[in-house]
Amino acid sequence: MSGEVKTILKYGHPDLYKKAKIVEDPSHPEVQKLIQDMLATIDHLGASGVAAPQIGTPLSIAIYRVPKQTDNPKYVLTPEYDPDGVPLTVMINPKVTPLGDEMIDTWEGCLSLPGMLGKVARYKSVLCEYTTPEGDHTQREAHGFHARVIQHECDHLGGILYPTHLKDVRDLGYQDEILSSGRFVL
Ligand code: NI
Repeated sequence: MSGEVKTILKYGHPDLYKKAKIVEDPSHPEVQKLIQDMLATIDHLGASGVAAPQIGTPLSIAIYRVPKQTDNPKYVLTPEYDPDGVPLTVMINPKVTPLGDEMIDTWEGCLSLPGMLGKVARYKSVLCEYTTPEGDHTQREAHGFHARVIQHECDHLGGILYPTHLKDVRDLGYQDEILSSGRFVL
């Protein structure tokens, strides 16, 4: 089964602010097709992750991967935790629990806000419980960038986009302006 590249809904579209529905049957052909479409879409865009609501389907599914290295400056990788990156992961009905109180304030982007970056705080470490496309319940710990990606994608499933977490609206801007102005300090 091959996926179809879908259009990403952009910031402002009302469907991005709705809570996604729980997936009752991961083996359902429509769910499997949706996952294939999500994979095709991030491959096409060279993106790190996408959540189903971003392609207009209100189901609790998010996919992501952490590259080993990147020349895309918006990915603030933390190779100390994931020296080999993290392979493509499909999370169905994920639930995120912070591990500790420590938070990291740094820049992140989103397919729904193309060309923009925002500086927001995320938990440094999280535990994520989810169901796999094969229907198995599993969990993983994540730290640094990996934890940030999981929090970002799972936020989408709750109808939340990163600007919600801005402490100061001036911490949102166009990537080229932020990078060229020297504000992109880690
Ligand atoms: Ni996003």
